[in-house]
This record gives sequence, C-alpha cells and structure tokens, in this order.
Amino acid sequence: MSLDLLVRPRRLRGSTALRALVCESRVETDALIYPLFVQEGEDDTPVGAMPGVLRRSLRSLLQECREVRALGLRAVAVFPCISPEKKDATGSAALDPEGLLPRTLRALKEAVPDLAVIADVALDPYTSHGHDGILDASGQDVANDATVDLLIQQALLEAEAGADVVAPSDMMDGRVGAIRRGLDAAGVSHVPILSYAAKFASAFYGPFREAVGSKTGHNALSKATYQLDPANTHEALRECRLDETEGADILMIKPAGPYLDVIRAVTEHTSLPVAAYQVSGEYAQIHAAARLGWLDYRRTRDESLLAIRRAGARMIFSYFAGEIARERARKT
Ligand code: PBG
Repeated sequence: MSLDLLVRPRRLRGSTALRALVCESRVETDALIYPLFVQEGEDDTPVGAMPGVLRRSLRSLLQECREVRALGLRAVAVFPCISPEKKDATGSAALDPEGLLPRTLRALKEAVPDLAVIADVALDPYTSHGHDGILDASGQDVANDATVDLLIQQALLEAEAGADVVAPSDMMDGRVGAIRRGLDAAGVSHVPILSYAAKFASAFYGPFREAVGSKTGHNALSKATYQLDPANTHEALRECRLDETEGADILMIKPAGPYLDVIRAVTEHTSLPVAAYQVSGEYAQIHAAARLGWLDYRRTRDESLLAIRRAGARMIFSYFAGEIARERARKT
C-alpha cells in the first residue's frame, strides 16, 4: 500500500549529502577548549578515572600544546597540580609569581603565542582543605569577601603572566566585578573574564578533584555552600545575570551534559557568548561504558558534544578536544 503523503520528512535524510546540507549543529574544532593538567618535575602521570588524561610536566604540556595548535585547536585551559607540601590553609602558593602556573603561562605564551590560554581563578588547587577560598575564623564557612581579595590578586598575577582569559571558578559573590575592577586598575583591561557563572555542586567533578588533589576529604563543609543546587534553573539565571552586570565577557555553565536545559535557558537570556564545561565525570562515564563494551566510544563522545552545542553553547571545554583535533587532522 502507499500512503497519500505530501509531506515526507525522510526525503531530506536520504543521502549523506542531503543530511549534511540540513545539519543544524556542528562541533567546530575552534569551538573546543582543551583542559590540561600541569605538574612539577619531568614525569607525566595518568589521572585515575580519566583514561588518556595526564598530569604533564611543563615540557610535555608545551609539546602537547604545539601539536594541538597545529591541528587547529585555538584554546586550552591549564590547571596546576601542586604538591601537598606546598598547600596551606590560605592557598598562599596561588600568589607566588614563581609558582607552577605563572611559570607555565609564561612558557606557553612564548612557545605557542597564538594559542589562547585560559587560567582558572580559585584557590582549590592550593588549599590544604581543597576549598575554593579561605575559611572564616570558625572554620565552618568559606569567607566570601576575604577570598575575593585574594582572587583579585590571583587573577592579576595570571593576567600578567600571559593568561589570555581569566576564569573565576570559585562561585564567591561579587568576584567578577571585583576582579574586573582589579584588572582595570592595574592596566589589564584587555583581558576578558570568562565566568563560571552557573557552576553546580556536582558529583561529576570527582575525577578532576583527584587530578589536582583537591578532594575536600573529612572536612564537613560542603561546596554546596557556594556552588549551585543542581535542582535550580532560576538561581542559575540569576547568577548569570549578576555576572553579566558585573562585567563578565563570557558566561559558563558547568557541568554541561546533565544541564542542557540550563545552557538553553541562559542562551535565551543573554547576548554574551555562552560556554559549557563537559567535566571530568562526563568524560569518565563515556570511557567506562565504552570499556565495558556497552557503548560505542566515538559515537557517544561525538553525540555528547553535539548535544551541548545544540543546546546553545558557543564553546565547549572538553577533555576530548585533543583527540578530536587529531582524528580530524588524520581524515583531511
Ligand atoms: C575548581 C574547579 C573544578 C573544576 C574546574 N575548576 C572542581 C571543583 O569545583 O571542585 C572541575 C572540572 C572537572 O570536573 O572536569 N575551581
């Protein structure tokens, strides 16, 4: 039998060529931001739960950055792994101009000048307790305003070391405006702020915390006192609006895959570029299922990124960025 149909949507799906013509979303190589970990010394060490991800020596980081830039990637985000004996309660290593991150930024800008480098602003890689800020006298809370004072100095140090973008990921109130004023007053008004505007208190950060050694451990204080409740969209919009008013240049939602609705809502409420961070746990999930033979690795990986792009993110932080750039270079 044949149906009397004028409209047959399948017509446009009939060939690779037609499907490519009507394709609405693509994950361009230049929309990907590649997060990398750097450590002291000459060795690279693997990160548990993140197959293929390494804590790299400076030399290995520079080599990786040269390679991926040659393949078309435009931006990396660099996270330092500080040895435990350099950590203290106030994260003082964050303000050392000769610290691991400033040295890495300077070396990177010299080695690969046209690769944009994004530097996190937050104290968690440097604090002995793993929180993003310093604790108040009671030890029961992160002290908001005192933390912001330090974040301004940290952001300035990063900008002066060559960071192309500073990215506050700490979720303290008022930090975007304070950092903007601090940078401007110091004559670095050209450095944009990519704000982790809607950063949720997520279980999906687990593997990252192992990578930088920022597990909050036995400390009863929860990051939920500063990061967003995963249940809340309105509150995420409020944070985004505030950061925009305070002078943020790019708004980020994090994690990405489990928060596609938030990405969509934010893109509808702002004219700023929106970024999303496909976090360590999202990466781990795909690898784990693929290892068990339960999911097709590449197809799942590519679909996970496409979904984030479709939801409205202009740029995506993803640990898959390096290998995707490599695969694409092989194909062309
Ligand atoms: C913290 C920071 C975190 C991530 C990026 N910056 C983790 C946290 O808040 O504990 C997570 C990234 C990931 O899971 O991939 N300043």
